[in-house]
Order: sequence, then structure tokens, then C-alpha cells
Amino acid sequence: MKFFVDTADIADIKELAATGMVDGVTTNPSLIAKSGREFKDVIAEICDIVPGDVSAEVVATDFDGMVSEGKKLMAIASNVVVKLPLTWDGLKATRALSDEGGKVNVTLCFSTNQALLAAKAGATYISPFVGRLDDINIDGMELIAEIRAMYDNYDALKTEILVASIRSANHVRQSAIIGADVATLPPNVLKSLAVHPLTDKGLSAFLADAEKAGIKV
Ligand code: E4P
Repeated sequence: MKFFVDTADIADIKELAATGMVDGVTTNPSLIAKSGREFKDVIAEICDIVPGDVSAEVVATDFDGMVSEGKKLMAIASNVVVKLPLTWDGLKATRALSDEGGKVNVTLCFSTNQALLAAKAGATYISPFVGRLDDINIDGMELIAEIRAMYDNYDALKTEILVASIRSANHVRQSAIIGADVATLPPNVLKSLAVHPLTDKGLSAFLADAEKAGIKV
């Protein structure tokens, strides 16, 4: 499973990219606003740091506007993926940009039928939001399992499942078990994946024994 980082924070992206675990980055208008920087400058800088796919979201809501903004975003760097909302205009724009060779991440997906439409429109990625479903007491991971089963029924559907709105290490574990293609992780969740209290306890004991025995490597 690929790991994307879900942030527009350059310091976090640099730190996590150095681990060798980061295959791409996702942003959205809320994350860009949080960075306090100019949209295109942040996307260009992220694209320089991470060679993998970097999602940048349009703010237009009509077909023409989305296509026009999508082309501007694609011009920033070759690894920009245009993020479009799952509306009829967004699906039409997905088809138009995909037909021109662009990569599209269809976002704000909350149902299996929406994921089917995005795949038929030629989306590179579909982003189902698991955390926001959990927030309203609907099991987000059930949606991922259903989309996986549905896509696996049809060889012609090439869209990758990009699990979004991840809130915990459990979401990551379940996504991998289901066979999602990508998980986009907030930096704190990615960092938490390597942490286990028994690892810390075991390491302390090994180091104490090594010191007592005077072991040197
Ligand atoms: C990523 O593509 C999404 O925009 C993001 O994961 C949404 O996460 P949130 O529901 O925590 O805002």
C-alpha cells in the first residue's frame, strides 16, 4: 500500500519524506489555508520535495471552471494530480482532464455508487472519507471494503482507492487488510505507526544489558 501525507506543512513533508515512506501528498483548500501561504507556491514546493503524486484541489464548482483551474494546476509540475469534487460537473471534468492525459483524484466520496461513477469517469484515484463517515456513526471502513469488492469485479476499472480522512493507526491497518491502494495520512498518524510501548521497553532493556556487559559494535 502506498502512503501519501495529508498536509500542506512543508516541515512535516520534509521530515516524513526523509523516512523513505512517503509516496505522495494530498492537500485540500482547508490544509492550504492552514499553511497561510500562496496556493501555487506551496504546491510547487511540495512537488519539488516529493517526486510522487501531489493532489491539488480546484475551487471552481462548474465544469468549465474546473477544467480551466485543473489545467493551471497541472502546469505547476508534472506530478500534480488535480483534485475534483464528486459532483456531476466534477465527474464531467474528470473525464475531460483524464482524456487529455491528466491525473485526477476525485474527492469527497461517501458511497460505493459515487466510487463507481468516478472510476467510469476515468479517475486515477477515488478518495472515500472514512473519518467523516465514522463521525456520523457510519462505518467508513465498510465503504472501503465495498469499493474494493466492486472494483475487483471489473478489470476495466483501473481507479486506485485512496483512503482519506484517516484519523488513526487502526484506519491504516484496516485499509491495508482490505487491500486499499493508498492511504493518505495526517503526519501524526504516520509517525504513530512505528510506535509501540513494548518496543520502547524492550530497547531500554537491551541497551541497559549492553551497557552492563560493555558491549561495543
Ligand atoms: C484528503 O484528500 C482529504 O481532503 C482529507 O483526508 C480530509 O480529512 P479530514 O476529514 O480529516 O478533514
